[in-house]
Amino acid sequence: MAVAGGTTGRIPLIAGNWKMNLDHLQSIAFVQKLAWTLKDARHDFAKVEVAVFPPFTDLRSVQTLVNADDLPIAFGGQDLSEFDSGAYTGEISGQFLKALDTKYVIIGHSERRQYHGESDEQIAAKLAAAHRNGIVPIVCVGETAADLETHGPSAVPVSQLRVALGGAAKGQEVVVAYEPVWAIGSGQPATSEQAQQVCAALRAVVAEVLDDEAAAATRILYGGSVKAANIAGFMREPDVDGALVGGASLLVDEFSSIVRYQQHLGT
Ligand code: PGA
Repeated sequence: MAVAGGTTGRIPLIAGNWKMNLDHLQSIAFVQKLAWTLKDARHDFAKVEVAVFPPFTDLRSVQTLVNADDLPIAFGGQDLSEFDSGAYTGEISGQFLKALDTKYVIIGHSERRQYHGESDEQIAAKLAAAHRNGIVPIVCVGETAADLETHGPSAVPVSQLRVALGGAAKGQEVVVAYEPVWAIGSGQPATSEQAQQVCAALRAVVAEVLDDEAAAATRILYGGSVKAANIAGFMREPDVDGALVGGASLLVDEFSSIVRYQQHLGT
């Protein structure tokens, strides 16, 4: 593997979680503009991988565009069912996502945990469903402000990840996203030191539940109010391998600038 993430060998990943924004027509315009902007800037996709996570109804459009124009942009779903088929009204199967060439799927985002009551066990089952269908799960973990006060910085994300990784298939890739709930959409990111501390603890969980090799290879992202102005600080940390970006991923120029953080690492 190309050594892009410093000495770690992990290729940094900048992932844009669109949440419930942009319809299928808007998604085409957005991905086209993103690809042009990055191409104009001569972005080296082998050095920093780029992925977008549109709503389900956009995925076919994004797939068609990416395939037709051979764009170096990966895409994924924002969730999937723990089941592959059956009487689960409103759910989306990993089989369907795989059929649309989705490389990734976000699992256990705090908004799913909060508004849909997803438990750690269900998230483990979803992780297993992703692996069963050959999709790389991006498993989100993170503490609330109350958790932080009661349990300190890493206890809750560590225990969430320990359960979720129970669903992992041996030898298959996992991406972890540390997203403190208090930092999501708040404009108040964690400090890079806080992110590093928790990401290091999460890497230790990967080593414990999977193995050392998996821990060394697994990309751990930080998410929560990431912007072009703060990404470089996070990316300087040895255990932060990228970012899961919400609000700022909906602005082409801002998102492109986050992707191009290596240009402002010195800042
Ligand atoms: P934010 O969202 O960048 O808008 O804080 C991050 C996320 O929820 O993944």
